[in-house]
Amino acid sequence: MITIVGSGRVGIAAAIHIALKELDDLTLIDIVEGLPQGEALDLQHMCGILDIDIDIRGSNDYKDMEGSDIVIVPAGFIRKADMTRMDLLFKNFDVVKQVSEKIKEYAPKSKVVVVTNPLDPMTYTVYKVTGFERNRVMGFSGPLDTGRFKSLIRRELKVSYKSIDAPITGEHGETMVLLPRLTYICGKPLIELLPREKINQLVEETRKMGAQIIKLKGWSASHSTGAGIAIMVESIVKDKKRVIPTSIYLQGEYGLSDVCLVTPAVIGKDGIEKIIELPLNDEERSALLKSYETVKNAIAQLKF
Ligand code: LAC
Repeated sequence: MITIVGSGRVGIAAAIHIALKELDDLTLIDIVEGLPQGEALDLQHMCGILDIDIDIRGSNDYKDMEGSDIVIVPAGFIRKADMTRMDLLFKNFDVVKQVSEKIKEYAPKSKVVVVTNPLDPMTYTVYKVTGFERNRVMGFSGPLDTGRFKSLIRRELKVSYKSIDAPITGEHGETMVLLPRLTYICGKPLIELLPREKINQLVEETRKMGAQIIKLKGWSASHSTGAGIAIMVESIVKDKKRVIPTSIYLQGEYGLSDVCLVTPAVIGKDGIEKIIELPLNDEERSALLKSYETVKNAIAQLKF
């Protein structure tokens, strides 16, 4: 069973994509009475129309996550157009801390996919409060940011998404580290295909994309987020061992410790099965250090 804590737009988009992939039965939990139950009914009927044989139920009781193999956590306050993800730090810390205590109590063997912003400090919070091994706590954001970057590369070069390999590291936030030097189009480096200024422009556009979407449609990205979460969950459920950029508790990788940051990792039945440490040059490394300092500074303000 898969549980999703938070029945807002992101939680429900994740539920839709997970259902479409027929990955497992779903439990939707939210504190708002009626909301998860209503969404569950609607989704169950969607499954009926599409012949998807999974069960979906909604609940206001955290106890109903009992027996979950995977718990997805998009619960929390959402960002407004004039906010950075970090502006949500204290409000969402309280939410995620409470949810983590419930996960520890009712789903002690589960793998957790954290989605709430600010993503890296919230992943750290789940890791610390649950006390789970680090391989069982994964922060989701990587496929979203690389997906955005890839959409711009596709627009410029007119090549399929499938032919673009774009890694990412650092914070899911203002200091995210996109890596044009390590971005390849079927073996050909991106830096040989587009001028430097153009690439810088695409990187900047990608960094601002989350806020841009909020500004345009009034709330944060949900379709892309839901699809990305489902890709991560699929890799766990089917033990696909797909390499996915994931926020992870670092223990010496990149020379960094006691912080959660995004790095590519092999995702399989045990969660994070291997961390792929990227070969960064000095410039990329100093960009990663900016992310490190930002997230460390945020974490230092949290009272566990
Ligand atoms: C974004 C938010 C969800 O990047 O962090 O769209």
